[in-house]
Amino acid sequence: MSQSFAAIILAAGQGTRMKSALPKVLHEVAGLPMLAHVVRAALRAGAGRIVVVVGHGRELVEKELASRFGGAVETVVQHEQKGTGHATRCAMEALVDHVGDVVILAGDVPLLESEAIASLVLAKSAAKKKLSVLTSHLDDPAGYGRILRDAHGHVVGIREHKDASDHERAIKEWNTGVYCVDASFLRESLARLDTKNAQGELYLTDVVAMAAEVGGSASVSWSAESVAGVNDRAQLAELERTMRLRLATHFARMGVTIRDPETCYLGAEVTIEPDAVIEPNVHLRGKTIVRTGARLDTGVVLDDVEVRAGAVVKPYTVAQKSVIGEAAQVGPFSHLRPDSVLGPDVHIGNFVETKKTTLGKGSKANHLAYLGDGIVGEKVNVGAGTIFCNYDGFQKHTTVLEDGCFIGSDSQLIAPITIGKNAYVGTGTTVTKNVPEDALAISRVKQDNKLGYASRLRERMRALAAAAQREKAQQAELERAQMAAELEKAPTE
Ligand code: UD1
Ligand code: CA
Repeated sequence: MSQSFAAIILAAGQGTRMKSALPKVLHEVAGLPMLAHVVRAALRAGAGRIVVVVGHGRELVEKELASRFGGAVETVVQHEQKGTGHATRCAMEALVDHVGDVVILAGDVPLLESEAIASLVLAKSAAKKKLSVLTSHLDDPAGYGRILRDAHGHVVGIREHKDASDHERAIKEWNTGVYCVDASFLRESLARLDTKNAQGELYLTDVVAMAAEVGGSASVSWSAESVAGVNDRAQLAELERTMRLRLATHFARMGVTIRDPETCYLGAEVTIEPDAVIEPNVHLRGKTIVRTGARLDTGVVLDDVEVRAGAVVKPYTVAQKSVIGEAAQVGPFSHLRPDSVLGPDVHIGNFVETKKTTLGKGSKANHLAYLGDGIVGEKVNVGAGTIFCNYDGFQKHTTVLEDGCFIGSDSQLIAPITIGKNAYVGTGTTVTKNVPEDALAISRVKQDNKLGYASRLRERMRALAAAAQREKAQQAELERAQMAAELEKAPTE
C-alpha cells in the first residue's frame, strides 16, 4: 500500500444511559478505557494519524489520551453533537491535507480487532471503490442502521432505524459504523449532507448513498460480538466477559495453561509466556508480565508485576509494581507493595509485607514480617516477626542486611541500620546500632526462674477475681434498692 490511512474516532457523545459522571468512552474494559482499545486497534492496523472527536467530558478524555498515547493521537472538539456526519466534518478540519484513505471508527466499540480495520482498508482498494463499510448480521438489529442493497447485491445506502420502513426494518444486515473512505470523496460528500431525517442530524451514513452514485461501495461482514457497542453498564459487563474469554483463549493458544478462563481476569496489557500456569480466580492487571514456567495459584492479584521464569506465587498473594525473581516462591498470603524486587530463589512466606525492598539471591523471610525500605543481600534469613522499623513519624530510613546475615525471630531493626556480612542477630533483639561483620548482636533482659511460683500466682489471681465478682453483685443490689425507693416516692396521676 502506498500511503498509510488516517483514522477518525467519534467520541463526542454523552452516553446518557451509562448514568455516569465519567465520559462513556473512558469506562474500562479489561482495565483499559474503551477509547484506548479503539486507538490501539487503529495503531495496530497501521493508522498513520489518529484524530479523536471529543465533546462531552473532553478535558478528561484529552488528558487520558495524552497520558497514554502522547503525540500519536490528535483531538478536535465538536462543541454541539449534531450527528455523526457533523462529527466527521469536525475531524476533517484536522485532516485538510490528508490524501488517501480515512477510516472512521466509534469510541464505544472496544472489541473491534485491528484485523477488521485492515480487512476494510484492503476491501476498498481491492474493489477500487471510494468507500468500504463494515457490516454485521443480527436477527433483529433494532436501533441500528440497515444496509440497503440492490438486486445485484451492491450496497446502495444505509437507512437509520428511525427512518426505516417496516420492510427495511426486516433487513438483518446492519451498519457497524466503521468505514474506510477516500479523503477527497469524503470531503465532497460531507459538504452535501443535510438534516432531512427523523433525528434532524447530519448522518454520516448518507455518504454511502453518495458513493453509490460514483461506483458503489465495498463491504466486509464481521462478527456481531466484535462490533458490539456499549450504551449502558449491562452491555459493558457483557463486553468485559467477552474480552476476558478472548484474552484467556489467546494465551491458551500461545501455550499458557489457563485452568478456568471464566475466572481468569486479564488486563488488556498483560503478557504471559508459554508454559506459565494460571489457576482459577487470578487477577492480572496493568502491565503485568508472567514469564515461562511461572505458576500463579488461586486468588493471586498482581498489578504491574513481573513474575520471572519458574517462580511460584501461592494462593492469595497480592502484589503491586514489583519483580518476583526466577524460581522465587511467594505466599500464601504475602503482600508485595511497590518497588519490591525479589531476586532468584527468594522465599517470601505468609503474612510477610515488603515495600521498596530488594532481596538478593536465595534470601528468605518466611513468616510474619515487615520489610520496608530495605536492601537485603544474598542468602539472608529473616526470622518470623522481624520488623524493619523504617519510619520515625517524619522520615523513612533504610535497613541494610548484608550477605549471609541471620536475623532471629521477633527482632526490631531500627533504621537507618546496617547488619554486616554473616552477622547474627539474636531472637528478640531491638537493634539500634550497626552490627559489624560476623558479630552477634543480642539485647535481652536476663531471665529469672522463680521455682514453684506459678501455682501461688494462680491462687492470688483466683482470689482477686472472686473479690471483684462479689463487689459487682453488691453494687447491683444497692442500685436495685435505690431504684425501688425512687419509684415509691414518684407522684402518680
Ligand atoms: C450510528 C449510525 C448507525 C449505526 C450505528 C452503529 C449514523 C447516522 N448512524 O448510529 O447506522 O448502525 O452508529 O453503532 O451514523 N458521535 C459524535 N458526535 C455526534 C454524534 C455521535 O461524536 O454528534 C459519536 C458518538 O459518541 C459515538 C458514535 O459517534 O461514539 C456513534 O454515535 P451514536 O449516536 O451511538 O450512533 P447512532 O447515531 O445511534
Ligand atoms: Ca444518534
